[in-house]
Amino acid sequence: MGLKDKKILLAVSGGIAAYKSAELCRQFIREGASVRVVMTRGALAFITPMTFQALSGNPVHTELLDPAAEAAMGHIELARWADLVLIAPASAGFLARLAAGMADDLLSTLCLATSAPVVAAPAMNQQMWANAATRDNMERLQSRGIALWGPASGDQACGEVGPGRMLEPSDILDRVRDECFGRPLLKGRKVVITAGPTREAIDPVRYVSNHSSGKMGFALAEAARALGAEVVLVAGPVSLATPAGCTRIDVESAREMLAAVESSLGDAALFIGCAAVADFRPREVADQKLKKPVQNPVLELEENPDILATVTARYPEVFSVGFAAETGNLLEHAAAKLDKKKVGLICANDVTAADSGFNSDKNTIVALWRSSGELRQSRFGPDHKKTIAGNIIRLTAELAGWQ
Ligand code: C5P
Repeated sequence: MGLKDKKILLAVSGGIAAYKSAELCRQFIREGASVRVVMTRGALAFITPMTFQALSGNPVHTELLDPAAEAAMGHIELARWADLVLIAPASAGFLARLAAGMADDLLSTLCLATSAPVVAAPAMNQQMWANAATRDNMERLQSRGIALWGPASGDQACGEVGPGRMLEPSDILDRVRDECFGRPLLKGRKVVITAGPTREAIDPVRYVSNHSSGKMGFALAEAARALGAEVVLVAGPVSLATPAGCTRIDVESAREMLAAVESSLGDAALFIGCAAVADFRPREVADQKLKKPVQNPVLELEENPDILATVTARYPEVFSVGFAAETGNLLEHAAAKLDKKKVGLICANDVTAADSGFNSDKNTIVALWRSSGELRQSRFGPDHKKTIAGNIIRLTAELAGWQ
C-alpha cells in the first residue's frame, strides 16, 4: 500500500495508449491511492468513462462547463484536491495546449489551476514526437517544471518504430511511488558533482579544451536534488542554467576543479565525476598573447591531476561514480577504469554513437559495478539525459545501500 491516501488525478488524453491507463488506474487503487480521472474529448474516442468509473470508484470528469459536475466537485476543487496530476497518455495536441497555457477544456484549465506537481507521460507517433513544434513545446513544459516521463522507443500502434510509446503502467507506478511520494532517497546527503569541460590556458586568450557541454552533469545535479540531496555542482565553462536548489562553483582549469571539489567534499556522501577533465595542460602559460610569426610552434604539455582518482584515494568513505567516454571497446575500457580508479560505479558511453554523448540532449549509458567481485551491468537509454540521470542516481543509491 505504497500510495495509501495519496490523491492522484489521472488525466487521460486522446491516444491508443489510453487503454494502458485503465491498468494504471487499477494499480494505483491497489496501492491504496484515491484516483479521480479526467478525460479529454479525444480520450473518449478510445475508451469509455465507464471503464475508469468502475476502476476508480469515482465519477469521471470530462467537461469544464457542466453544471452537474461543477456542483459535485468543481474544476478548482479538483485542482486543489490533487496531490499529483498525472497525464497519461499525454497526446501531442494536449501537450501543445498545455505549453500554450490554454484553458479551453477541463484538463488544460485544471493544469493551470493546480499547485500540485504535473507529470506527463507522452504517447504519439514517432514523427510527431520528433517534430520541431513538439520539441519546442517539450522544452517549454520542462522549463516550467512539468516532468516528462518517456516516451519509450519501440513498435508503435501505427506500424512505425521509434520513440513515442507511453511508458508501461508498472514503470509509471514505480516512478510515482519513488519520485512523487517516496522518501527522498538522498535526503540528508550531500552530493558533489563535476560537470562540463576544463580549460587549460596557453596564453591569456587561448586554451586547450574539449567538446563537453555539461548537460549530463547538470542533469545529474537536478536529479540528485529532486531526490532530496544537498548538491554542489562544480562546473567548468558551460552555458547552462544552474538547476534550482543546487550550489554552483564555476571553475576553469582541472587544478581549480580539484580544489573546488576538495573544499566541498568534507561531509559529502557521494561524488560524481562527470566532467570531461582535460588530461593535459600546457607546461608554460605565456603571460602575453603569443605573436606570429612562430616557426613550427610546439605546445609542451604536462599531466593534470586525476580528480576522480584523487577523490577515491583521499576520501574512501565517499561513494564515487565515474564516467568513461569511449570511442571503442566500451565495456573493456570502462571495466578497467572501474578498477583502476576504484569507483563504486562507472558509467560508460560511446561518444561516437549517433544522438549520444557530447553536446547531445540524449545519451546511452552502460553502468558497470562489482558485486562480490563479479562485474555487473545495467543499460540506460538511448534516452534524454534527464531520464538517464534519474536512472544513474537511483542505481547509485541502491549500490550505496541508501534505501
Ligand atoms: O581516464 P578517463 O579520463 O577516461 O576517466 C574519465 C573519468 O575520470 C570521468 O569520471 C572524469 O570526470 C574523471 N577524470 C578526472 N580527472 C582527470 C581525468 C578524468 O576526474 N584528470
